[in-house]
Amino acid sequence: MSEEYIKVISSGPLHGEVSVAGAKNAVLVSMAATLLADGESILTNVPISSDVRYMAILLQCLGAEVALDEERKLVTVDTRSVCCFTVNPDVMKKMRASVLVMGPLLARFSQAKLVFPGGCSIGARPINYHLKNFKKMGVEIHYVDEVLHAKTKKLQSCRIALEYPSVGATENILMAAVLTEGTTTIVNAALEPEVLDLIEALQCMGARIVICPAAIIQITGVTSLKPMNHSVIPDRLEAGSLLLAGAVTGGDVFVTNARAYDMDIFLMKLQEMGHKIEVGLNGNGVRIKATQLPEAVSFKTGPYPGFPTDLQSPMMVAQCLATGTCEIHETVFENRFLHVRELQKMGAQIKCISGSGLACSVGDCDKVQVTGVEALYGTNVIATDIRASCALVLAGMAAKGKTVMTGVDHWRRGYDQLDKKLIQLGLRISIQPVDYLIPSARNAEHFI
Ligand code: UD1
Repeated sequence: MSEEYIKVISSGPLHGEVSVAGAKNAVLVSMAATLLADGESILTNVPISSDVRYMAILLQCLGAEVALDEERKLVTVDTRSVCCFTVNPDVMKKMRASVLVMGPLLARFSQAKLVFPGGCSIGARPINYHLKNFKKMGVEIHYVDEVLHAKTKKLQSCRIALEYPSVGATENILMAAVLTEGTTTIVNAALEPEVLDLIEALQCMGARIVICPAAIIQITGVTSLKPMNHSVIPDRLEAGSLLLAGAVTGGDVFVTNARAYDMDIFLMKLQEMGHKIEVGLNGNGVRIKATQLPEAVSFKTGPYPGFPTDLQSPMMVAQCLATGTCEIHETVFENRFLHVRELQKMGAQIKCISGSGLACSVGDCDKVQVTGVEALYGTNVIATDIRASCALVLAGMAAKGKTVMTGVDHWRRGYDQLDKKLIQLGLRISIQPVDYLIPSARNAEHFI
């Protein structure tokens, strides 16, 4: 695919109704979980993003038959022909979620071969919690020429305490445990809505899983599972981003299928900024009526139900244009401030601060101080990860003039036509091949 850029032109307040796609982080793990049964699984409400295509290729390389129906947002995975247990290294390097097939492969076929996963550059992102606990479950792991060979005679149930409630590790262990004799207990498990969606999908397949107080998941192994027929939950991160599109443009946006109860702290912070939030019956549907005089609010990311790290960069954009100064503390990933430099290019006033309170560089800090400015200005920016691409589009819609963003592959990895939804709300945004970018514009700093 040729390189592309996104052009965003300031279009005033965004207004209207939109619905969000299925959750990217939920569908990828459910696709991996289809490997746990022999037969054809059907997933609906699937966001057709590049990551979903990568996961489809990954499953096909294992021998599964996969069909994506883009119109109906549906994926079928037939696992009857799975015959290979080596994960395609190219896909593995593109997408961290590839590691999520390890648990299902070990559970069904007692083996898996893979290289270390790639994905967004937001930190070191090791998989030590996954590997350490697979070993505890009786998996032998060897490295040969950077390829990880995992094998087990028989998985063993055990009690696993996670030192950090890692989403991926919880999901991988869960999927390994559903076909493991006895009861496996995960203490300090991640309980993100996407993990709960996976549990629901596994339960529909016949898995025996209970969630106990204080973040404990108990899985009692069964001998086999049936294929799933599962509808993926709406994407809370896309919903949050659309609400922020209303906030940063001073508009009025109703996300008809947003699940408010998946985003309590985020919505509370929007209200603290002065925005009016209306929630539909039983938490279904969220509307923002933006204040024209937003106030800056500090926040700190954390595991669910804390403020989601994936909304940190989009929420930072809203702080760049609010009155006052706030602090943003990123506690989940150690290198998730790469968008700061790009926002600074647009005129944002952001200072990186170290633990001692002294100024430091973007790569060394986990905290930034944002002081609101009257306006941001469109310029050339580069997206370095999925959520940064969304943040920069949000900055572009709030900025004066035109913003040109490269790194569009990140946007395509995470979202199913989010640009079309923004057009529906009144934004002038387009995706074009880089060849159309005239040379002078490629080098120009500002486009006002
Ligand atoms: C998932 C999401 C990602 C989200 C993140 C946190 C998917 C496909 N991705 O990523 O969008 O930002 O949850 O909500 O669902 N860690 C280790 N060792 C491990 C595993 C994790 O040190 O073995 C660390 C990570 O480097 C990170 C923290 O734990 O600092 C949280 O990572 P984790 O919850 O595992 O995130 P992912 O599952 O990778």
